Amino acid sequence: MRFQAFGSSLLCALYAGLAVATVLVDFQVAQPPPIPKNTKQCTIQILQRDFAFSFGMSEVVQFQPPTDCGPVGSWAAITLNFTVTSNGTQFDRLGIFTFQNVEIWRTSTPEPTRGDGIIWTYVKDVTRYTPLFAKPGIFILQLDNLIETGLDGIYSTVLHATFHASSLVHPPTPKADLIVPISSLANDTGNDVSVPPTFSLNVTLPQNTVKIFAELYASGNGQEEFWYFNTANEFLPDLPGFLGQGPFREVRLLVDGKVAGVAYPYATIFTGGIVPTAWRPITSYGALDLPTYFIDITPFVPLLTDGKPHAFSLDVTSAEDDHTILQNWFLSAALQVFLDKSLKPTTGKMTLYSADPFSKTSTTGSAGGGDVNITVAATRKIHIESTIVSGSGQVNHVVFTQDLRYNNVQNILNNTLIQNVLQTSSGSVSSTHNGVSVVVDKFSYPLGINITNFDPSGNSFMSTFDHSYNRDLLPLPIVLRSQIVERQKASGFFFINPNGNTGNGTSNNQFSYIDAAGNTFFRTVNAALNNITFDQQSGTLAPTSTPHFPFAKITGSQGKPRLPNGRVIPDV
Ligand SMILES: *[C@@H]1O[C@H](CO)[C@@H](O)[C@H](O)[C@H]1NC(C)=O
Ligand SMILES: *[C@@H]1O[C@H](CO)[C@@H](O)[C@H](O)[C@H]1NC(C)=O
Ligand SMILES: *[C@@H]1O[C@H](CO)[C@@H](O)[C@H](O)[C@H]1NC(C)=O
Ligand SMILES: *[C@@H]1O[C@H](CO)[C@@H](O)[C@H](O)[C@H]1NC(C)=O
Ligand SMILES: *[C@@H]1O[C@H](CO)[C@@H](O)[C@H](O)[C@H]1NC(C)=O
Ligand SMILES: *[C@@H]1O[C@H](CO)[C@@H](O)[C@H](O)[C@H]1NC(C)=O
Ligand SMILES: *[C@@H]1O[C@H](CO)[C@@H](O)[C@H](O)[C@H]1NC(C)=O
Ligand SMILES: *[C@@H]1O[C@H](CO)[C@@H](O)[C@H](O)[C@H]1NC(C)=O
Ligand SMILES: *[C@@H]1O[C@H](CO)[C@@H](O)[C@H](O)[C@H]1NC(C)=O
Repeated sequence: MRFQAFGSSLLCALYAGLAVATVLVDFQVAQPPPIPKNTKQCTIQILQRDFAFSFGMSEVVQFQPPTDCGPVGSWAAITLNFTVTSNGTQFDRLGIFTFQNVEIWRTSTPEPTRGDGIIWTYVKDVTRYTPLFAKPGIFILQLDNLIETGLDGIYSTVLHATFHASSLVHPPTPKADLIVPISSLANDTGNDVSVPPTFSLNVTLPQNTVKIFAELYASGNGQEEFWYFNTANEFLPDLPGFLGQGPFREVRLLVDGKVAGVAYPYATIFTGGIVPTAWRPITSYGALDLPTYFIDITPFVPLLTDGKPHAFSLDVTSAEDDHTILQNWFLSAALQVFLDKSLKPTTGKMTLYSADPFSKTSTTGSAGGGDVNITVAATRKIHIESTIVSGSGQVNHVVFTQDLRYNNVQNILNNTLIQNVLQTSSGSVSSTHNGVSVVVDKFSYPLGINITNFDPSGNSFMSTFDHSYNRDLLPLPIVLRSQIVERQKASGFFFINPNGNTGNGTSNNQFSYIDAAGNTFFRTVNAALNNITFDQQSGTLAPTSTPHFPFAKITGSQGKPRLPNGRVIPDV
């Protein structure tokens, strides 16, 4: 058995009581949510569900806000605890949490082992969605799992919400007046949308709207899961069978057909990604809590407060001439809307709009002697300014800018035996209101993946990963600014075998979190062959209990690999 400290002596006691078990405790490295200590907490179970064959059968429950932690909506913080067990063979699966038609958390499942199986817990800070939790409504978890020949892993889930009461020391969290989904609005399944084609929704906003901030959820799926490995179309003839449309992806939010802001997404690697054994027990960064992207669309307020519907569109574009992508990306967005106290319409004027429809991109490369080397680069600049006058007379001068860079080098060598990619997305997003920063996103996401096949069958290979998530983020003016510096170096061998896949893996992680309230969390944690070999945690958010590292006995089911370039592994 392995133990991951969550600062909960309860969890420790729970596993201490099962000393003989060797359940593998999977986890993603992340900071424990910076929530107030020593305030009253009210925990309610939102749902419990065993996801066996669950394709198209989401868990849909009615949520009632708790009334025993102070006035409804006056909480200091809200967290969700998703705890899951599984035993058997299964692919990683995407999980979409939707509440009041707003996506509030996108996760994925660690692939299970057979025998004693796996368990994981992730505690997610959802305080920024407080306006949703202050009302009863429909809560949905979409986790489309398949049970079929060779796949028997069931995901047994339980989700709790903890409401942290406010006090004099910990005031109620600041919050938006309303949260407006840009989503499918379905009441029976997760509210993401599949693109292409472009998704559009007409939204009518209150006429006294003064500020709007958008949050985007985005992940590649199917032929787009390994988008950073996709091949530029002009080199497809040199790489028959590879997936096209190149490796560059830009997620766009458009308002009435005009680009309002974009994201150069972080590449989340799911736990079946190339070498499943590399992600056990430490998942790739982001696999349990996919990063989201923030755009200030306040500059569009003067155009949106006429009381009429306006089209909000979401899509993903490539660096190819037609800007299209393959199938598919899952997207959703939500608008955090702030209103003026007066009921009079907001007025104003957009004074500067500088945003091209697409990023500037270039593709270069050469092929010959069994090698194909390709570099795809992109840059993007957006600058939008508006002056906004609220009904009660306040003037807000808004400046929103994005300055983004992207570079992807693919070296496909030795007649595709070697497939190396080195990608860096970086940039700076800024929004100021009367000179005060309200959105800041300075990010750098370097990603190196080298795959070496030992023979042309593609059934025996090793891969190395060097993946970072460096982000200085003020997502919304109501959320703490924080800096995360994270680097994960992982590697593993994998052998696909009709009698059962075999493999191994190592993972070395360095993580640091610092926020504007002085909360800190630092963790260095390494694993080899399913064992935690080193774990050091410190900082104000670090758990006080001492982690220990008993050894796991892992039998069977070394995982189901998902591979770039559309390779389908037969079920075993
Ligand atoms: C999360 O929920 C699980 C299962 O209900 C529980 O055992 C665990 O103590 C909780 N962890 C935290 C940090 O609340
Ligand atoms: C896991 O499933 C196997 C059958 O595949 C079973 O033998 C084993 O007892 C299960 N383990 C647990 C902890 O339930
Ligand atoms: C979803 O539920 C809400 C609230 O009950 C309702 O207003 C809305 O019409 C429903 N949407 C669909 C697509 O059925
Ligand atoms: C949005 O409204 C416009 C104008 O009424 C209409 O032409 C368009 O079809 C609508 N779009 C959607 C996605 O409903
Ligand atoms: C491709 O890149 C590799 C590694 O940098 C280099 O050795 C090889 O000569 C290049 N081949 C071509 C055709 O550009
Ligand atoms: C790739 O080719 C080089 C040069 O021929 C050789 O040294 C190397 O072993 C090959 N690598 C693989 C994985 O086949
Ligand atoms: C991939 O291989 C290149 C060339 O040998 C090397 O420079 C790079 O560090 C490797 N990246 C990883 C993640 O192993
Ligand atoms: C993983 O397996 C490969 C191939 O069997 C082996 O060469 C390598 O040493 C193993 N790695 C570790 C960390 O044991
Ligand atoms: C974990 O490490 C221990 C001690 O080094 C070793 O005996 C054991 O085989 C390892 N477990 C696995 C699953 O490799």
